[in-house]
Amino acid sequence: MAVKTIFSEKILVVDFGSQTAHLIKRRLKDLGILAELIDPDDALRFASLSQGKPSGLIFSGGPSSVYESAVPSIDRKIFSLKIPILGICYGWQLMAHLLGGEVESGDKEYGPTILTISNFKNLFYGLPTPTKVIESHGDTVKKMPPGFISLARTETVKFAAVVNLEKKFYGVQFHPEAYHSDHGTEILKNFATIVCNLALNPQKLNIEEIIEEIKEKVGNKKVIGAISGGTDSAVAGALVAKAIGGNFIPFFVDSGLMREETIERIKKDFLKVLGLPVEIISARDLFLARLKGVTDPEEKRKKIGALYIELFERELKKHKDVKYLLQGTTYADFIHSQGSKRSAHIKSHHNVGGLPKNMKFKLLEPLRYFYTDQVREIGIKIGLPRDIIYQQPYPGPGHAVRIVGEVTKERLAQQIQADGIVVEELKKSGWYKKVFQCWSVMTGVNSTAVKGDGRFYGEVVAVRIVNSKDRMSAEIARIPYKILEKIASRIVNEVPNVSRVVYDITSKPPATMEWE
Ligand code: XMP
Repeated sequence: MAVKTIFSEKILVVDFGSQTAHLIKRRLKDLGILAELIDPDDALRFASLSQGKPSGLIFSGGPSSVYESAVPSIDRKIFSLKIPILGICYGWQLMAHLLGGEVESGDKEYGPTILTISNFKNLFYGLPTPTKVIESHGDTVKKMPPGFISLARTETVKFAAVVNLEKKFYGVQFHPEAYHSDHGTEILKNFATIVCNLALNPQKLNIEEIIEEIKEKVGNKKVIGAISGGTDSAVAGALVAKAIGGNFIPFFVDSGLMREETIERIKKDFLKVLGLPVEIISARDLFLARLKGVTDPEEKRKKIGALYIELFERELKKHKDVKYLLQGTTYADFIHSQGSKRSAHIKSHHNVGGLPKNMKFKLLEPLRYFYTDQVREIGIKIGLPRDIIYQQPYPGPGHAVRIVGEVTKERLAQQIQADGIVVEELKKSGWYKKVFQCWSVMTGVNSTAVKGDGRFYGEVVAVRIVNSKDRMSAEIARIPYKILEKIASRIVNEVPNVSRVVYDITSKPPATMEWE
């Protein structure tokens, strides 16, 4: 990990493997606080630099339990350096464990919960109570270490926020970095400004710098571009087109797994967006053939990713001097697929996982360190049309990960039709623009229905409509029942072999957005 050696006026975020450790850094950066993610093994060394030691430390959450063997820990000496510390979830449990408290398994909480604050000094300064926070933990602290007092609780977690005022050590069981923790950013801001005494100095996105970096990296080589029709690859493509013009060769693979409107848009709008024609590779039957018999979601993603690459390699032979494959990978894709050294693997998003090791070209990923909302900001700043920028994010493997079990021609056709109804009804009612993502899922579960006068046994379709800002957490969209009923009625009546429709009302976490 590249880390600069002077950390004064910075917060070091010690990454214990939480899915949202990078979000802590992001929130701090957005506030105008310098922050660096570091590994627990490096923490003591960086925190005890005699010159320029950090102004604060944040211990992130993580998938481990303090009582398991070989879990990430930290040298106890760090507690005597007189640096303020905020422990989040596992970070707090570890701190409690190392300082003489007790951690226990049980009282699990996943998702939104209500925090009741009893002490509004420092960390909770200016916050209302009660307030919604996101929790995601199996263990909790049962006994605080000596010197700590409680600041807030939830219904089941007694020590949801604590402090040792003298040492400036804070612990929270919830995730202030999650967008759906209502006042989470303010809590991080209070820690940085009131506890660590840092000033805010917000930075602006520098588009010219991004374009210059692409120019420098690519030189006079050619880049082949995986355009999907979605926002991320459109923005990535437009940046590369601005940087290297005609040396960029954009392609679209028509896998049949994307929404129909996507291919229409590629044909109509992209010439204008990129200033270059997009070559269309038709491969619908090939994708279906490769997905035959595949039921495991990870295998699906990997097969789809591998076929994309195969098709690109095939195309590549037609062009000389191509050195890079452009991908619209964003930071959320990267974290979901791979995460940091210590995080648990969740899903191999196809644009990151599944790439063969012996690829003949390198990856160019100009958006790798940006989140959805930042990608949109870049897109608007470089003048892309709003309906491309504000379209819903759509997963690379498309309908394939929205069909639980095998993707057959028939089930794909059902999914396309059901999904089309969800989108159409939300557009008609004005809700499409108000939600982050909406879609249907072929659940692979069958149920009984009565159609005409006879018993009918067919597949259950789920409808999922969510709101999110950065994809790392999401809550269900509160769509009026009238619209949901209309969607259900149309799907059971119009889509062949569907017996019933259910609305998925689960937040993320704990559920992921996609079913697979
Ligand atoms: P999950 O299901 O991981 O989804 O909560 C978070 C966001 O990522 C999208 N998603 C994907 N995007 N390739 C992609 O490019 C994938 O394999 C993939 N799986 C999920 C999902 O639609 C949501 O916006």
